[in-house]
Amino acid sequence: MKNKIVKSLSIILASALLLAACGKAEVESVLSETTVSSVADAIEEVVEPAAEESDGSALEEAKKIYLDKDLPVSERVEALLSVMTLEEKAYQCVQGEQANVTVEDVKRTGIGSVLSGGGSAPSYGNLPEHWQKRVNELKAAALETRLGIPLLYGIDAVHGNNNIYGATVFPHNIGLGAANDPELMEEIAHVVAREVRAVGVQYSFAPCLANPQNERWGRTYEGFSENTADVAKLAGAFVAALQGGVKDDEYMPADAIIACAKHFIGEGYTAEGENQGDVKMSAAEFDELLAMGILDPYKACVDSNVLTVMPSYNSIDGLKCHENKHLLTDVLKEQLGFKGMVISDYNAIGQCKGTYDEEVANCMNAGVDMFMEAQEWDRCAKTIIKLVEAGEISEERLDDAVTRILRVKFMSNMFDEEVGSAHENELIGEFGSAENREVARCAVRESLVLLKNGNVNGKLAMEKIKEATNITVCGTGAFDIGRQCGGWTISWEGKSGNITIGTPIVQGIYDEVKEYAKVSHSARGELDAESDVIVTVVGENPYSESGGDVKANGLKPISGDVKLLETIEEQIAANGNDPLKVLIVIAGRPIDINDYVDKYDAVVMAFLPGTEGEGIADVLFGDYDFTGTLPMTWVKDFSKVNEKHSLPESEILFPYGFGLNKAGNSLTRE
Ligand code: BGC
Ligand code: BGC
Repeated sequence: MKNKIVKSLSIILASALLLAACGKAEVESVLSETTVSSVADAIEEVVEPAAEESDGSALEEAKKIYLDKDLPVSERVEALLSVMTLEEKAYQCVQGEQANVTVEDVKRTGIGSVLSGGGSAPSYGNLPEHWQKRVNELKAAALETRLGIPLLYGIDAVHGNNNIYGATVFPHNIGLGAANDPELMEEIAHVVAREVRAVGVQYSFAPCLANPQNERWGRTYEGFSENTADVAKLAGAFVAALQGGVKDDEYMPADAIIACAKHFIGEGYTAEGENQGDVKMSAAEFDELLAMGILDPYKACVDSNVLTVMPSYNSIDGLKCHENKHLLTDVLKEQLGFKGMVISDYNAIGQCKGTYDEEVANCMNAGVDMFMEAQEWDRCAKTIIKLVEAGEISEERLDDAVTRILRVKFMSNMFDEEVGSAHENELIGEFGSAENREVARCAVRESLVLLKNGNVNGKLAMEKIKEATNITVCGTGAFDIGRQCGGWTISWEGKSGNITIGTPIVQGIYDEVKEYAKVSHSARGELDAESDVIVTVVGENPYSESGGDVKANGLKPISGDVKLLETIEEQIAANGNDPLKVLIVIAGRPIDINDYVDKYDAVVMAFLPGTEGEGIADVLFGDYDFTGTLPMTWVKDFSKVNEKHSLPESEILFPYGFGLNKAGNSLTRE
């Protein structure tokens, strides 16, 4: 009782001080749930349950160790683990979705982690301030539990902090694979980490290390390249920078975040490119594939001290990766020496065999340390408790899982950070800033691949374009931020339209040439007979995961764009003139453009460039040259896409590594 009075007095006092000092309503709202601002404060204020009193001194002794930021990570982990109950351990091992976790739940259970699923914005709204308020109310609640173990908050910042309105959105990984520039990856990582930290989040489920072999797969664009060496190089650089270069058992610098190498493993090799599908190989054949390179990206990320790994939804010869002990424990943890935590994918254990109890037991025994159970997190923790009591999961396995989780939490400074710090507010001020967008714009420039630079009356198309005086930019995709961003932007599947702040492609072109050329936008392809340059933007609509899986004959521009291409052809014939024709493809993967490559003078693959559409104009009309090369083989006949890696050269439209510059030279991919 006495403790309670002391606590509320201190809240009133602290609120009064805060308001007097800042006089700002925002401060009050950010910290509205509690004024607890650090673990140490929380521990002092917490009202301890009577049952723990006998243990009090052991706990006090442990706190002296685990709250001391000058001690090594391992010592702190050990001290904390030694005073944890079975319940406390089990709840550390679960992650729930924010819409299913209340502040009271956090205080009651000490849940280890919360995520925002794709597009899961706080009920307050989708601005950075709303996220900060939501994340911090949950984080503050965790500090009120008996042990005060901080809450880990995870999101999919897969191309920028993409769920939040106004974030800087980068090209999807396939475009960064075309750029093929590790230094650029580092710059991007710094911006992403700062825009994530700005809202109090410490953890991103990125990067994806897939090396897609079949573009029918809806997640093709989440992979950097079909080539494992490219993925290893780019992802390794990204992880190191995202985590601030943190070394084994050391503390991360501020503004760095926890990375997640996903999805382990084989996801790019499923039959027919099916998402969450089966890799039709025996376990022994798959081990050979691992040895031939697909493990290399994971090796590179483990070398960069990646703190978490997420298993894949796919199976190998019918056995789901989540329940595959050979892969998760023997290969990942033992052979590669991964010391971080394995986090299951969104409700993925539900796809494994058996009852719920069996799913939890098998996955945990296979090597899963934290369970992403969006809705069932409470049931999952209770199941872990039951299974440990019944001996189905050993105490040793549970302790290993908790040790791995705590290690991540200590290394990322979660015990030493202030919830809602002044620095966080500074970062909010930089969210989506011009400087951050400049990095994304540079990434767009580097990600473009010039596939054709035809000869037009003795001049190369990319020389001829400089003579433009009257440009018509065609297609709805030229004026559509949602399409240029693709999936995982504001919402999980992404959406066409004006979904966030950014520069549409046609706007970028106008800004670049306005001094010397007229620019019009024609959504449906009606042409001005005076136009000397036609820029046509075609491609795909946004999608994510299984929603992007298609049949081979579905790999083509959307029907509205096919119609657009026909209209343009008819218009040019009717006008009887001969403008320079440039085709820009906005898509997450190679698509069937055979019919148009011949008809267009120049063709540019722009992938899914993100919010900074002016990066395209910088290269097309400005002084920058094309430097990107294809990270994927592009076939001629998409009905043969399933066998594309065994097709003869004559069947390949553009090989892996292909790309031209403005002078018409073939670039070499290094
Ligand atoms: C969530 C995503 C998640 C997906 C899993 C969606 O409802 O928003 O985060 O990846 O479900 O299937
Ligand atoms: C996806 C993951 C993602 C998770 C959380 C899953 O559906 O496969 O890549 O990190 O959802 O949104």
